[in-house]
Order: sequence, then C-alpha cells, then structure tokens
Amino acid sequence: MPAALITGSSRGIGRAIAHRFAHDGYDIVLNYHTNETAAEAAVKLVESTGSTAIAVGADVGDPAAAAHLVERGVEAFGGLDHVVNNAGIDQHVYTESLSPEDFDRVMDVNVNGVFNVTKAALSTLEASEDDPSVTNISSILAHTGAPIECHYAASKGALLSLTRSHAADFAPEVRVNAVAPGHIETDMTADRSPAEAEAARAKIPMDRFGRPAEIADAVAYLRDATFVTGETLNVNGGELMG
Ligand SMILES: NC(=O)c1ccc[n+]([C@@H]2O[C@H](COP(=O)([O-])OP(=O)(O)OC[C@H]3O[C@@H](n4cnc5c(N)ncnc54)[C@H](OP(=O)(O)O)[C@@H]3O)[C@@H](O)[C@H]2O)c1
Repeated sequence: MPAALITGSSRGIGRAIAHRFAHDGYDIVLNYHTNETAAEAAVKLVESTGSTAIAVGADVGDPAAAAHLVERGVEAFGGLDHVVNNAGIDQHVYTESLSPEDFDRVMDVNVNGVFNVTKAALSTLEASEDDPSVTNISSILAHTGAPIECHYAASKGALLSLTRSHAADFAPEVRVNAVAPGHIETDMTADRSPAEAEAARAKIPMDRFGRPAEIADAVAYLRDATFVTGETLNVNGGELMG
C-alpha cells in the first residue's frame, strides 16, 4: 500500500486530508504538535477506512523533530510516497504590537516547517514508484495580504515561492504544488465574532465558508495530477474573483 505523511493532521484540514487519502487507499502518517488526544481520534478515523495509521508528535519547525517524523513514517511503512505540508499557525496582532519572536515563530512553523519536512522526506519520495508528490497548504492571504496578521500572510506568500522553487529542484522525480484555501471552517477560524464571520462570508460569492473536505478534494486532485507541478490551486468559493 502506498503511504502519505500529512503534517498537522490531528484536527481541521489536515485530518480531512488524512481521511480522504486513507479512503483512497493510502496508509497514513499523522502528525500533531501538542494535542495527542485529537491525534488518537484521527488515527481511529483513518483506521475506520481500512487503512493503517500512526500518529507522531513533532514540532515541524524543529529540524530534528521533522527528521524524526519522517524516519518514523519510513520505519512504519517502508517509505513515503506523498507529503502534505499542512501544519500551520495563525496569530492576530497589529504590526506595532507584534514581537520579533512571534513573527519568527509563525515563520518557523509555516515556512521553515515545510522546508524541514520536505528536505527530510526527499530521498524516500525520490525512491517512490507512486508518482510522488509534495503539496503545501498556503492561503488566500498569500495573494491578498491581511491586516493584523502580516506575518501569517507573509509566511503563506513565501510558501508559494518555495513551492515553485522545489518544483523546479525536484522535477521530474517529485511534483510539488500548493493549495491556497479561502475561509474554511476549522478551529483556526472559530474565534471570529458573529459580525466578523458575517463580514467574511459577505465577500464570498459562494455565500458560505468552505469545508475541510473540500480542501482535501483539491489535495487529492494534485496528488493524482501527473503532469501538474509548480502550481497553486485556489479554493475559496470565488472570493479572489471579486
Ligand atoms: N482554516 C482556514 O480558513 C485556513 C485558510 C487558509 C489556509 N489554512 C491553512 O490550512 C492549514 C490547516 O489549518 P486548520 O484551519 O486546519 O488549522 P487548525 O484547525 O488550527 O489545525 C492545525 C493543525 O496543525 C497542527 N500544528 C500546529 N502547530 C504545529 C507544529 N508546530 N508542528 C506540527 N503540527 C502543528 C495542530 O496540531 P495540534 O492538534 O497538536 O495542535 C493541528 O493538527 C494551515 O496551514 C493553515 O494556515 C487554513
């Protein structure tokens, strides 16, 4: 059975991607940072499809932890065929109040984490015979920028450049693409006030927020799209059109 590593897959979009890949016949390396209970529930969700899963606690921003995460996956499944760099953190702070440490932490997880995991996984991906791929989860804010979360938007913009650079570096053996979600209903967006949620929804032609499974559909498409590399798939209910 081919195997996929999905970072930040104890909750939200990452868990939906893990569920989709498991449904499609992949064994899964789940990853979490601190929430072991949620990761154990995600293992059960994956196993309900008939696939096998392991959950590995690792901060992707730490190069040694990222390497350990990949090693655990290779040990468990004999190799990795696909990596989805989904783990990410957000923080709402105006620039005047934003500390250099907080700026760096968001960059560490959202950008360095992708570099760390991808670098560690490259040799096992290159050995795969399942048309291996890396998919990075960026954001609509990579294109638009955003008030009160400049470091988050900058990290997601950097991820698009990293995606194209890695696509060029790793071709033709490993394809590298990005998905840039709009507003998706997860814990990350759950702290909005009703007024903020209404203002955000009003900008979306599809008149609703996205669902994690709709991002998983886009990632599954890129996994299987054997002539697509270096691309960004925007999944945002039409928000970028406006
Ligand atoms: N939700 C949206 O509207 C939206 C829009 C655009 C892009 N995105 C992006 O989509 C991705 C997933 O977002 P989400 O909304 O599903 O987030 P979420 O519900 O907050 O879940 C975040 C996941 O990442 C894990 N994580 C956090 N820091 C980590 C670290 N340092 N190392 C490893 N894992 C870590 C968390 O693990 P624990 O459970 O252990 O905390 C959790 O599994 C992120 O990259 C986010 O930026 C989200």
